[in-house]
Amino acid sequence: MTRLAGKTALITGAARGIGFAFAKAYVAEGARVAIADIDIQRARGAAAEIGEAAFAIKMDVTNQQSIDEAVEKTTDRFGPIDILINNAAIFTAAPIVEIERADYNRVFDINVAGVLFTMQAVARHMIAQGTRGRIINMASQAGRRGEPLVAVYCASKAAIISLTQSAGLNLISHGINVNAIAPGVVDGEHWDGVDAFFAKHEGKPPGQKKREVAAAIPYGRMGRAEDLTGMAVFLASDEAKYIVAQTYNVDGGNWMS
Ligand SMILES: NC(=O)c1ccc[n+]([C@@H]2O[C@H](COP(=O)([O-])OP(=O)(O)OC[C@H]3O[C@@H](n4cnc5c(N)ncnc54)[C@H](O)[C@@H]3O)[C@@H](O)[C@H]2O)c1
Repeated sequence: MTRLAGKTALITGAARGIGFAFAKAYVAEGARVAIADIDIQRARGAAAEIGEAAFAIKMDVTNQQSIDEAVEKTTDRFGPIDILINNAAIFTAAPIVEIERADYNRVFDINVAGVLFTMQAVARHMIAQGTRGRIINMASQAGRRGEPLVAVYCASKAAIISLTQSAGLNLISHGINVNAIAPGVVDGEHWDGVDAFFAKHEGKPPGQKKREVAAAIPYGRMGRAEDLTGMAVFLASDEAKYIVAQTYNVDGGNWMS
């Protein structure tokens, strides 16, 4: 289990949830991982749980200085970055007539600009180092189609699929593979928030929305963060070197394109 032996990875939003599962899986495969998150307390706890192959960085993906510092700190600690996972994101939901501009701006700042400019900073670093690196962006099934109450988040994830295509086509000329993962519905704190929103908006009892989405998944249950780690390791491994600008659904069969 050393498909990522000697590699250095920077994972944004890795203090909890899917990003934390990625960090653990990468370390198990021999990588060293920078756990970068706006929640530094939680990031420190996550890094401590993993051990010396991980360390925590306070990073806000909406702030260029913070992005540049994260690249610098990762490099100082573990050497040049081989793998970036753009995982940090927030969820929001509202009917179209209630969407607020400030909320839209915040979601796009984190979910889209955060991905683009972190990708840019790491790509510049990889090009300067001559690293044939890997960049993995976290999209979503939400980016594959709209949802009546989730317009802004869905649009932000559709933008990730598009950015992955453009950046993938551009950066492969430098030997950098950019791809994305589109999870379906993955249980955890993110989905606790989604469930709470639907409880409020549709008058469902708490937990009801989760039960409904789980029942609709062909595999028969909601995803777990660990269900995504195989794809994240594969896309970073040598086996995936000919894969460029793609977005892969990992969703128990929930979506077909
Ligand atoms: N959970 C799901 O069902 C699901 C489904 C599809 C896609 N995704 C995507 O997968 C990724 C991880 O999801 P998750 O469920 O683990 O989410 P999560 O909410 O549990 O974790 C997100 C992390 O990002 C961090 N973060 C938020 N804003 C930040 C910022 N400005 N700078 C740096 N870090 C910031 C948070 O502190 C948190 O630790 C996200 O991109 C999400 O959109 C999740």
